[in-house]
Amino acid sequence: MPLKQQIGNKRIIIALDGPAASGKSTTARKVAQRLGYIYIDTGAMYRSVTLKALEQGSLEVVRRSPECVSALLENISICFQGEKIFLDGRDVSLEIRDNRVSREVSFISSLKPVRDRLLEMQQEFGRERGVVMDGRDIGTVVFPDAELKIFLVADARERAKRRYLELKAKMTEGSELPDIESLEEEIKSRDRADAEREHAPLKKHPEAVEIDTSGLTIEAQVDMVCDLAREIIAGQPGR
Ligand code: CDP
Repeated sequence: MPLKQQIGNKRIIIALDGPAASGKSTTARKVAQRLGYIYIDTGAMYRSVTLKALEQGSLEVVRRSPECVSALLENISICFQGEKIFLDGRDVSLEIRDNRVSREVSFISSLKPVRDRLLEMQQEFGRERGVVMDGRDIGTVVFPDAELKIFLVADARERAKRRYLELKAKMTEGSELPDIESLEEEIKSRDRADAEREHAPLKKHPEAVEIDTSGLTIEAQVDMVCDLAREIIAGQPGR
């Protein structure tokens, strides 16, 4: 019987955190599909704010005076439609994956006004529950009451290889494909920045279930998360 039918209408929040390219978004998307839940990629939201800063040429200004980031957040609109993300009404699903966004996103996401604004939006997206949300601080800050918290990890080299294949598959005209070594460096430096920052650092919640995805297939990861979700849903009164 499909999982969706078995679980009726008890709806929980599944928080999936972990370092860059640990398999969060692929796992979260598939878990959401199986459960009939909404999937929210919070990294894509931070990437969208970063893209906006790059497009407006305001990154250097913000670097010099971080408080200037508030101007970027005024009237910002970020929404999801299925697999796509819209920034101020424009589909930016491809642009936000660009390596120049990846290089700057940890800086933008370390800023308190950015985190506060996106936190508000993320909590609103999860208000009705029935959500799988992935990021760095979902179990610790956004939804500390999430019924299921997962922390995905994987070896850095393995993660760089995955990112390489992902970028290769999504290459657009004129975009450059970085080599695996430089991707590994970028991933490690982003992990450091995300774990060491002052506000909402990347951290495993004490209750989170850690899954090392290094040798696992996507299907195996998805099965593990869905099995844990099923157990929790079965033991929980409807919400
Ligand atoms: O896909 P990948 O793992 O490379 O990263 P992502 O999930 O798209 O997130 C991009 C960046 O956004 C991260 O490196 C963090 O700096 C930031 N981020 C965050 O600070 N908090 C979140 N909840 C999600 C992402």
